[in-house]
Amino acid sequence: MKVLVTGGCGYIGSHTILELLKNDMEVIIVDSLINSKKDVIDKIKKITGKDVTFYEIDLCDKEKLRTIFEKEKFDSVIHFAGLKAVGESVEKPLMYYENNLISTINLLDLMKEYNVKKIVFSSSATVYGNPQSLPIKEDFPLSTTNPYGTTKLMIETILKDLYKSDNSFDITILRYFNPIGADKSGLLGEDPNGIPNNLMPYIVRVAVGKLPILNIFGDDYNTVDGTGVRDYIHVCDLADGHVLALKNKKTGLKIYNLGTGKGTSVLELVNTFEHVNNVKVNRQIAPRRDGDIDACYASNELAKQELGFNPKYTIEDMCRDSYNFVKNN
Ligand code: NAD
Ligand code: UFG
Repeated sequence: MKVLVTGGCGYIGSHTILELLKNDMEVIIVDSLINSKKDVIDKIKKITGKDVTFYEIDLCDKEKLRTIFEKEKFDSVIHFAGLKAVGESVEKPLMYYENNLISTINLLDLMKEYNVKKIVFSSSATVYGNPQSLPIKEDFPLSTTNPYGTTKLMIETILKDLYKSDNSFDITILRYFNPIGADKSGLLGEDPNGIPNNLMPYIVRVAVGKLPILNIFGDDYNTVDGTGVRDYIHVCDLADGHVLALKNKKTGLKIYNLGTGKGTSVLELVNTFEHVNNVKVNRQIAPRRDGDIDACYASNELAKQELGFNPKYTIEDMCRDSYNFVKNN
């Protein structure tokens, strides 16, 4: 199978490409490098010993994107490309709507024109807003609290409408919970520019001394120890979910949560990180962060049943691999 991977130089895309190559799939990458670096391509080649084709193109440029559809005959698309910083999306909503929506509409339009009908899309647990109960199932009500989340929900709606209009499309929407961790090689990982917003990139920077102290946003949530609970999933397990989605015999429009089904609090994650890596993470309790919810974790039963999804990495593995990547880089 020949797969077009948009956003393939990014964190989740690059790890997924390792799995695709391991499964003998051929990979074409399109990325504008707006949030990644070209050296990821060499690292992928070094880890796998296999080649990939890379095009530096912004998906918002439809005519440039068309050149790839003309040149490469691929069977399916995994669409990771998009901007993902929640805070930035509140400050620059138009940039988020333009980048995430125009790119997707261009991609889908060209897929229809060139008769490429299979797509896997990166959605997010953010589309569940503040869930009514836990664990979160795929049929829970959807709502969003920031422009980034709204782009994900809008793209889900676009995909559903597209499928209604043309049921020869084969669409899989994957709603990721909180990906952390890195490939064992230590070559690929999450490396955000500037001060990180997300918990694990912040923890590792404190551990290596690049940031002085971790602020734990709130210790009065209704959780096991008062700190926020999330469903952290190793990025390599998430990558595996994409290969399973491509191989899925079930066609049509499908939606799956990709999480472990287990909640971990901020304090539990920080303490595990210190323990497995034998390193100190300075921390202090800080006020709650606007928009955060008490707890969020997935029911992954549907992905288990229909995809054979079976996440195998523990929180300990995730902490070890995240630290290993940052120490190496
Ligand atoms: P990332 O920023 O590391 O990767 C996204 C890639 O897309 C980057 O390489 C970027 O350069 C590229 N890109 C962005 N806009 C583009 C455009 N218009 N044209 C071409 N390339 C473009 O992010 P990630 O963590 O790997 O996330 C991948 C996808 O998964 C995103 O759509 C994100 O919203 C979604 N997601 C991520 C998380 C998370 O916590 N990391 C959670 C849920 C969903
Ligand atoms: N947290 C801290 N200190 C920090 C950063 C985070 O205490 O410096 C806490 C948060 O309050 C929360 C938990 O750590 O309780 C996780 O926060 P993240 O920012 O790492 O992750 P979120 O669950 O808030 O959101 C992330 C992405 C969203 C995505 C969601 C589900 O940022 O875009 O996961 O996939 F929708």
